[in-house]
Amino acid sequence: MTSLNVFWLHLIKAKEQKIPEHIDYQSLHYSILEGFSKKPSKQDLFKITFQKSGDYSNTLDLYNNLLFAEFDEIPNDLVSYIRLYVPLLMANKLKPSRPLIITHFAQSLDGKICTSSGKSKWISNEDNLNHSHRLRAMVDAVMVGGGTIKADKPKLTVRRVKGNNPKRIFWCNSIHDYSSYHAHDTFTILIADKDIIKRKPKGIDHHISYSKENQPIKEVLAKLKDFGVSSIFIEGGSITLSNFYEAQLIDLMQIHIAPVIFGSGKCAFEMAPIDEVSESLKLDGFFSSSDNHILYHGKPIYNV
Ligand SMILES: NC(=O)c1ccc[n+]([C@@H]2O[C@H](COP(=O)([O-])OP(=O)(O)OC[C@H]3O[C@@H](n4cnc5c(N)ncnc54)[C@H](OP(=O)(O)O)[C@@H]3O)[C@@H](O)[C@H]2O)c1
Repeated sequence: MTSLNVFWLHLIKAKEQKIPEHIDYQSLHYSILEGFSKKPSKQDLFKITFQKSGDYSNTLDLYNNLLFAEFDEIPNDLVSYIRLYVPLLMANKLKPSRPLIITHFAQSLDGKICTSSGKSKWISNEDNLNHSHRLRAMVDAVMVGGGTIKADKPKLTVRRVKGNNPKRIFWCNSIHDYSSYHAHDTFTILIADKDIIKRKPKGIDHHISYSKENQPIKEVLAKLKDFGVSSIFIEGGSITLSNFYEAQLIDLMQIHIAPVIFGSGKCAFEMAPIDEVSESLKLDGFFSSSDNHILYHGKPIYNV
């Protein structure tokens, strides 16, 4: 088994044991950052000690350290695992009043997430499909909008790597066919208008009613916390991503860029026009590459 696979098993174990409730963040900090600052041996790589009790008063600092620290002595692929997945273990500490929101989607070089007929399978490559299954395993829930259910019928389960299935969250404005979503993989929450919920669609285990006119997204997110959801991976599509971006609720954004050009199709974000480049959303993050494709991973910097 490669060291990456072993590291992944450690992360899965941490996630399954709901370690973030009890984690001693200081010890996580020292073992990852300082423990590894000396020349690490193979054993050091797995020296992430998850201990009960304790609180880390400055969780955000730790999170930023993990995301942006220079890890000179550690192999690059392991550094990317630490940056991509470890922060998700801290979700409930980072955002006490709502779930942490991460998005990840694949787009063409000209910024399209699907063709004009709505096809998106597969813009990304094998590595990225594995990565998106790892993200699913690291979060409490995966969310998609009604347009994605209609176009792709995504299973939203973890199949390519070891790990548990996240809860599924569907945000819909009209009724869709959910009958292929079975409770035995995981449970499914529908966020929709009360008229849709009244029709008791098959395949849905729980629901949250939502009315665009009088309910901010934040209220829905607070209710999701009651279902034990501390982190959500929004897979798409455009309308759901744009709504969350406009509400300044995306905490981490990952964009996979494939070497193809569609020339037409949907963009990930469709919003009111801006006049000046200076009005654009800025992100702080980094690029990594895999097999002629690239992944951008960053934190949006919102103007408050
Ligand atoms: N490249 C990628 O990584 C990727 C990932 C995911 C999806 N996609 C593509 O994206 C396309 C679908 O995009 P889309 O623009 O249709 O977006 P979408 O977000 O999948 O679906 C939009 C629909 O979801 C419902 N919805 C979402 N948020 C809502 C809210 N706050 N209030 C009320 N209703 C809400 C609406 O109702 P309805 O129930 O009435 O539709 C809306 O029409 C598909 O073709 C899919 O293949 C690509």
